Amino acid sequence: RRKKNKPIRVYMDGCFDMMHYGHCNALRQARALGDQLVVGVVSDAEIIANKGPPVTPLNERMIMVKAVKWVDQVIPDAPYAITEDFMRKLFDDYKIDYIIHGDDPCVLPDGTDAYALAKKAGRYKQIKRTEGISSTDIVGRMLLCVRERAISDSHNHSSLQRQFSHGHSQKFEDGGSGSGTRVSHFLPTSRRIVQFSNGKGPGPDARIVYIDGAFDLFHAGHVEILRVARELGDFLLVGIHNDLTVSATRGAHRPIMNLHERSLSVLACRYVDEVIIGAPWEVSKDMVSMYFVTSCCVLKFLHNGLYGFHLFAVMNFFIKLVCGFPIPTKAPVQKNQLQ
Ligand code: CTP
Repeated sequence: RRKKNKPIRVYMDGCFDMMHYGHCNALRQARALGDQLVVGVVSDAEIIANKGPPVTPLNERMIMVKAVKWVDQVIPDAPYAITEDFMRKLFDDYKIDYIIHGDDPCVLPDGTDAYALAKKAGRYKQIKRTEGISSTDIVGRMLLCVRERAISDSHNHSSLQRQFSHGHSQKFEDGGSGSGTRVSHFLPTSRRIVQFSNGKGPGPDARIVYIDGAFDLFHAGHVEILRVARELGDFLLVGIHNDLTVSATRGAHRPIMNLHERSLSVLACRYVDEVIIGAPWEVSKDMVSMYFVTSCCVLKFLHNGLYGFHLFAVMNFFIKLVCGFPIPTKAPVQKNQLQ
């Protein structure tokens, strides 16, 4: 029986391979069922035995899960199924009250339910799975992207390239999500954006840091760069380029995740305070003065967006491209712009 005033601790496990906003939404819902969320990240060996090899190894999957703002504690090398021994450990050592999973069936290779024991113990709760996104879907999009790139390379100036280069200068800053991502038509509701948001603007004397980029296939390198950026000030504002801007700079086959999907992944990151959904490529003085209150530092971040991108490469790239400049003193100050 739960002691009075003891926080409710909930446990969610998963592979969290190619972490996406569906996983983040699951973690958000799980956290809402208790006061503290403990996440078990399944070991590479267990994933191989139950589903086939993951794309991202345990250490990267751990970085991604730890970066989600609703996560309080992470357990590495969790088992794929809730065994008797592991369930005891969760209850006795980690003081877990409930074990949580999405409402999709989680069946083991022998046909049994991975959460049967937790259900039998009356300690299982379910959250709603997010439709329209999965790791398998992302891998499919990546394969399509590789195929398109191969076709466009072989035709040199293929019709696809022409389609996306033609008239880009006019479309570039239109602020729309564009047609660069032709696979996903995901559109978030305002409620989902609010659920993912912190709902707080910067304090009156906050040092606001701005960083922009595509943040396609949000990965461990992005997390690290956002962590570093956040440490430079008190409030991190992230500009996310629209799909046309990303296509124009990276090639017609990019981005793989559309503007809204990329925005939710960035918003779920614990280092991020606010995002601009569809930020312009150029950071103009007007934009700086419109958004920034006291002093700011602008980090121009162009990630090259390779799959399985490594932290070291990201940091090297970042260091080369970072530029900081103080806010112009004569700029009009609009204090409550972000609040
Ligand atoms: N989840 C979810 N919505 C999704 C994908 C996953 O709510 N679109 C939830 C799962 O139900 C689970 C948790 O996220 O509770 C971790 O999922 P994971 O073990 O990574 O595996 P999958 O369910 O197979 O997710 P995916 O297909 O994306 O790999």
